[in-house]
Amino acid sequence: MMARRKLVYEGKAKILYEGPEPGTFVQYFKDDATAFNAEKKAVIEGKGVLNNRLSEYFMIGLQSIGIPTHFIKRLNMREQLIRQAEIVPLEVIVRNYAAGTMAKRMGMDEGTQLPRPVVEFSYKDDSLGDPLVPEEYIAAFGWASQQEMDDIVSLALRVNDWMSGVMYGVGIKLIDFKIEVGRVWDNDFPRLILADEISPDSCRLWDIETGQKLDKDVFRRDLGDLADAYTEVAKRLGVLPSNVTHAPTKPTLIN
Ligand code: CDP
Repeated sequence: MMARRKLVYEGKAKILYEGPEPGTFVQYFKDDATAFNAEKKAVIEGKGVLNNRLSEYFMIGLQSIGIPTHFIKRLNMREQLIRQAEIVPLEVIVRNYAAGTMAKRMGMDEGTQLPRPVVEFSYKDDSLGDPLVPEEYIAAFGWASQQEMDDIVSLALRVNDWMSGVMYGVGIKLIDFKIEVGRVWDNDFPRLILADEISPDSCRLWDIETGQKLDKDVFRRDLGDLADAYTEVAKRLGVLPSNVTHAPTKPTLIN
C-alpha cells in the first residue's frame, strides 16, 4: 500500500507522500535522528510514533486557540494527513532562555532567562548550515514580505505562549523551539499557516525541578536514551497512557 504511494519529498526525519485528495499530503514520521547537520545519525526505535502523537497533540491544541495549521488528522501510528502549503524557506526560532547556538554566539550560560521571548530567522539550507539571517535578507531575496515577517513573528509568539503554558503545567520549561510556516492561497490571497511538526526534535525541554533534558539534546550530547526522554514528555502530557513504555516486552491489550 505504502509502496504504491507517490513520494513527494524525503527529509531527515519525515517523508511526504501524495495525499488522497488534491492539496493534501501524508506526512510519515521516521525513526531516524540526525544532529549537527546530519553528521551524527541513528535510528531511535519508536521516535517516529512519539513525534507523530506529540505533534498531533500540539497542532490540535494550537488550532483550539485559533492558530491555523497544516494538520488535518492523524491517520495511524506514524502518519498524519496534512494540508499542502508553500513552505517559507525559514526556520523560525523562538527562545525564552539562552541555549545552543545563541548561548555560544553570545557567550551566555545555557539556561539564562531572556528579558523577553526572542524570535529569530535562519535560512533553511543544510549545505550552509541554516545560517541566521536578518529580516533585510529575507525581504531582499523575496523569501517573505515585511508583512509576512510581522505575521510570522506574531504567530510564533502565540505558539510560544501556548506551548510554554502547556509545558509549565507538566513541570517542563520550554527553553526554545523551531517552527516552519507555509502559505496557502485563498483565491489570490496568501495566508500563513503553521506547518512541519512540533516535537521534542525541534524544541528544548528541561525538567523544571531537575533541569533534566527531555529533547533532542539527549541525542546530540549523548545524555541517555532519546526515546525514554520523549516518552516522558508524552506521558506527562497524557498523550500516551502512563503504563505503556516505548518498548513493550509483552502484548498489551488495547481497548
Ligand atoms: O540546536 P542548535 O544549537 O543547532 O541551534 P539553535 O539555534 O540553538 O536551536 C534553537 C531551537 O531550534 C532548538 O530547540 C533546536 O532543536 C531547534 N532547531 C531545529 O529544530 N532545527 C534546526 N535546523 C535548528 C534548530
